[in-house]
Amino acid sequence: MADTPDFQLYQHKGFYFISGIHSAEDLDKLKDCEIRDTDIFTITYPKSGTIWMQQILCLIDAKGDLSVTDKRLNADRVPWVELTENAKKFDSAPSPRMQVSHLPYYLAPQGLRQKKGKVIYVARNPKDVLVSYYHFHKLAVIMETPKDFNEFFNKFMEGRVCGSCWFDHITGWYTHKDEMNFLYLTYEEMIQDLKAAVLKICSFLGKQLDEQQIANVVKHCTFEQMKNNLNANYETISESLLNHKIGKFMRKGTVGDWKNHLTVTQNEMFDQVFQERMRKLPLKFVWDISEFKICS
Ligand code: A3P
Repeated sequence: MADTPDFQLYQHKGFYFISGIHSAEDLDKLKDCEIRDTDIFTITYPKSGTIWMQQILCLIDAKGDLSVTDKRLNADRVPWVELTENAKKFDSAPSPRMQVSHLPYYLAPQGLRQKKGKVIYVARNPKDVLVSYYHFHKLAVIMETPKDFNEFFNKFMEGRVCGSCWFDHITGWYTHKDEMNFLYLTYEEMIQDLKAAVLKICSFLGKQLDEQQIANVVKHCTFEQMKNNLNANYETISESLLNHKIGKFMRKGTVGDWKNHLTVTQNEMFDQVFQERMRKLPLKFVWDISEFKICS
């Protein structure tokens, strides 16, 4: 058992990481890594659609051709920069580098804040994030299994989870967005109109795809398609990290599942914190699928 990593939540510079997959030494080096103009960073708080953006970016890069992306896992094509094994390779990785990250703005490579590279920030309504994260904690071997939903609710609200506090994460990135080449997208707008979101991403990245190629990107990035695509859905990730018997990473993929989990009291408490913490940010969230008409 000597080589089994000890996965513990630990704080580094005010942010929660997991020992065994994140090393403080490599995180510190990352901050000073040189950023290239061709770098693309997708930044998310956990459970906001990171895997979805990995698939979208891979497919845009492949001009909608799934056979190109079939040869490799998306998580290898668009790796998490802060995972120790990837952080070590980041500096020497060939261009163009596509990365995903949950880092807070103040620990991310500083070059991004000199308008080098591009940042796509994907936000999701935080009640659905909470619920998705709760289920993920049960699946992920690297995270402590919650005793019950209420215990996890409290941990999330206090920011005692990997990724720390949702409110801090979005506030940090959003209030510094003008220092970066920055695109803000929401999970809910991707659910509502995936084609429009893909077009927005292409335009931001300066990628020119024809109608058919865009249609193919959209087709291969739907929840149903990704659920059945082993390169996209993390089903091949080692059992030592995810317990596939407990559930699927691609769980529900919808808006408003929080209504099946939060009690009235928890919801009122959440709303109060949300109003206090978000009042200075000009951001609106969609809280239920019935708030919009899905475009096909
Ligand atoms: P649920 O647990 O609510 O289903 P992340 O990659 O940041 O961990 O986010 C995972 C969440 O995004 C999961 O949410 C997952 O189902 C959802 N997701 C991934 N791909 C999706 C897609 N194509 N359409 C809708 N939701 C998607």
